[in-house]
Amino acid sequence: MLRSGIAAPRGLASRAGGRDTGGMIGTGDDATTARLRAAGCVFAEEEAELLRGAARDAAELEAMTRRREAGEFLEHVVGRVEVMGERLAVGPGVFVPRRRTELLIGEAVRAAAARRAPRVLEMCAGAAPVAALVARRVPGALVHAADGDAAALAVARRNLPPRARLHHGDGWAALPQGERFDVIAAVPPYVPHERLALMPREAREHEPRAALLGGEDGLDHVRALIAGAADHLAPGGVLLLEMHREQCRAAREAAHATGRLGPVDQVLGEDGSTVVLRVHAGPLAPAGAPADLVLLRRVRDRMDREHDRPLDVEALAAGVHLSAGHLSRRFREEFGESPYSYLMTRRIERAMALLRSTDRSVTDICMDVGFTSPGTFSTRFKELVGVPPSAYRRHGAEVLDGMPPCIARRITRPIRNREAPGAATS
Ligand SMILES: C[S@@+](CC[C@H](N)C(=O)[O-])C[C@H]1O[C@@H](n2cnc3c(N)ncnc32)[C@H](O)[C@@H]1O
Repeated sequence: MLRSGIAAPRGLASRAGGRDTGGMIGTGDDATTARLRAAGCVFAEEEAELLRGAARDAAELEAMTRRREAGEFLEHVVGRVEVMGERLAVGPGVFVPRRRTELLIGEAVRAAAARRAPRVLEMCAGAAPVAALVARRVPGALVHAADGDAAALAVARRNLPPRARLHHGDGWAALPQGERFDVIAAVPPYVPHERLALMPREAREHEPRAALLGGEDGLDHVRALIAGAADHLAPGGVLLLEMHREQCRAAREAAHATGRLGPVDQVLGEDGSTVVLRVHAGPLAPAGAPADLVLLRRVRDRMDREHDRPLDVEALAAGVHLSAGHLSRRFREEFGESPYSYLMTRRIERAMALLRSTDRSVTDICMDVGFTSPGTFSTRFKELVGVPPSAYRRHGAEVLDGMPPCIARRITRPIRNREAPGAATS
């Protein structure tokens, strides 16, 4: 799992606003570094510098070092995290916002900025990184944050402006009846139960299970949010949900199955795993659409089965007795992308799986999934995943998953931060 966006040590130290230690507990203190290294922190020197920047005196540095040695999140120990250049408070027992959530935050800020005086709600808010960034970046936005955990809301309060409204309770039940929002965003707990054991120790031991796990397939909370979305979205509004790429299809099906929501599309993150599902408000389509939908799903299933064959929209349309033009238009309306774009995504997803699970060469995999030109394959792969196929094989999502957080953070640091040695390939 990728880690949060705590700032690079020098940056955080200079922005921390902590007391100036005058170098008394900082300079030349190799003991902290050595202890952190012994505790398994690969970037012990950087972490030691962070702790020295945050501690007010030697006693506090000692206490912080002990907590970190015991495996607590670095962010919990220093009490803050940096998200898209903004410092946010975090606290023990409260989920630490992750770097990957910048994708969702970007979408929420964009959606909110496109509206006048938008009403924005972060569900499953935790420390409320989405609501906080929207409040700071979109003038006139009125933000709300809801969570079932009072401790999380106490931290959220510190990150939000005074006029922000907080709601405590289980799912949608936390909200007053009749409240509607232009933008609703959430990072619900979406880790499938069986994947808990694969999560980093810090998360398993220092974040509440309720903040992480989403049932057998990880989608319990996603489905609940989708099921109630039509009652809480304002006309023209959008629900933005972070999830894993592999969960997208089931979530889209859930949205369509409500019959009360509009088109659904998705944005894939640079890590190749994180997706933001965008579920638009509104009725699905004019009368007659359900029959269409069955046919469209049939076409999509056929494309899944035959993803390695050249795209032939005419033949696909003829197979379900539709015109090619009608099929293309309705496909885009229902699934948020053209048949061509859908096919390309399927092929790239298949290629990602093959890169992770086989030793076949990149060229062979390119042909296996239906591309005829390695150049097109590589370009398309990079567009969707953010790195070329060979780099993905080296630093793929699975590798990052099992990687100690300090290293994953280093490798996945955004390119704008030029200190990251692996940034160009991550
Ligand atoms: C994965 S964390 C996300 C927190 C925050 N949005 C972020 O990205 O840092 C999920 C949050 O959902 C909250 N949560 C879990 N189950 C809930 C429920 N049934 N109702 C309301 N909130 C819930 C947890 O307390 C936790 O704060």
